[in-house]
Amino acid sequence: MKYNFDEEIIRNNTDCIKYDALQEFYGTENLSPMWIADMDFKAPPCVTEVLRRRVEHGVFGYSVPNAQWKPAIINWLSRRHGWHVEEAEIGFVGGIVPALAFVLEAFTEVGDKVLMQPPVYHPYNFVTCDLKRVPVTNPLQLVDGQYRIDFEDFERKVSQCKIFFLCNPHNPGGRVWSVDELLKMAQICARHNVLVISDEIHGDMPLRGYKHTPFASVGDVAAHNCITFMAASKTFNIAGLKSSFHIIHNPEIRDRYARFLRHRELDTPHLFATEVVAAAYNHGEEWLTEMLQYVEDNIDFMQQYIRENMPRLDMIRPQASYLVFLDARGLQLTDEELAHFFTHQARVAVNPGAIFGEGGSGFARVNLGCPRSTLQRALERIKAAYDNLA
Ligand SMILES: Cc1ncc(COP(=O)(O)O)c(C=O)c1O
Repeated sequence: MKYNFDEEIIRNNTDCIKYDALQEFYGTENLSPMWIADMDFKAPPCVTEVLRRRVEHGVFGYSVPNAQWKPAIINWLSRRHGWHVEEAEIGFVGGIVPALAFVLEAFTEVGDKVLMQPPVYHPYNFVTCDLKRVPVTNPLQLVDGQYRIDFEDFERKVSQCKIFFLCNPHNPGGRVWSVDELLKMAQICARHNVLVISDEIHGDMPLRGYKHTPFASVGDVAAHNCITFMAASKTFNIAGLKSSFHIIHNPEIRDRYARFLRHRELDTPHLFATEVVAAAYNHGEEWLTEMLQYVEDNIDFMQQYIRENMPRLDMIRPQASYLVFLDARGLQLTDEELAHFFTHQARVAVNPGAIFGEGGSGFARVNLGCPRSTLQRALERIKAAYDNLA
């Protein structure tokens, strides 16, 4: 490999949530940090180089988006996903979680219903509740070790809703939805006039044998009834640089959303954002290929370790990204006991499955975007606690 993903980089005391906020989130220090979804790897050198040049320039005044930003996105989406997008269809937004809130404010009223598919990325639920909209759930079904959609339930539930938050690929389940599944959801949502918000932040990280399909690329029905959110943030480990974007084919939806953002000045990138994204998409592909290979090897390592050492645990093998949903139902612990098991007995920080909603109890989300040695240490800690259980 050209890049060294084995390097253990000290992240303590760098104002990073994953290492420096353990006390705040877990009430204790010195945990193996396998939780919030960023990686312990250095970003690709092309990213650091752009930042270095900017910093050395030393003037940080008001800026315009970098001229390479939109062409880089267009080329990337065409090359990686076969999806054709126009410059006018792309818009900046600092983060996808705030963007979901902006969507709810721009397109719904208090009391309107929003569909989501738990267990799913938890901010979908809290953003909806915080804004006094009402979450409606189409729980995913775990069949033969992978999540499936109950389409009858989906249609029944979505018909009451204004918006559907689609997690594509899915977090924490790691499912890469098939073209058929996406098409079916698109047709049902169009039938009931429900706007689809496709969150594709993990879409550039399909693993061996899988291919991500942008929801809006499956046909006109999907394209005209959808806002897609994407980012280089997970892919290239630049989440702290707040540089996401949306793509909206439908001009009416686009204008309405753009007006909402413009009036609040939410659509203007900070100085570093767009140049960094352009650099990552134009020059980061080789790094990404190697990173995904390394993560895939981490997943193999974890799967084998669990099989050999902790037969009462299991894991959903992700089809994309570096998050693993660990199935600890075999331990027969309550959610509270399971959280205690990981934090205080194993001393590993994971995201408790219960936070992801229905179907999450008994699971834990483990972040494998780290050196093998970090993963091994965490697994050994979990095994020691496992062996101590009655
Ligand atoms: C599915 C999903 N959407 C959105 C986000 C966060 O996006 P942002 O940092 O752009 O708000 C995450 C981060 O973990 C995620 O997993």
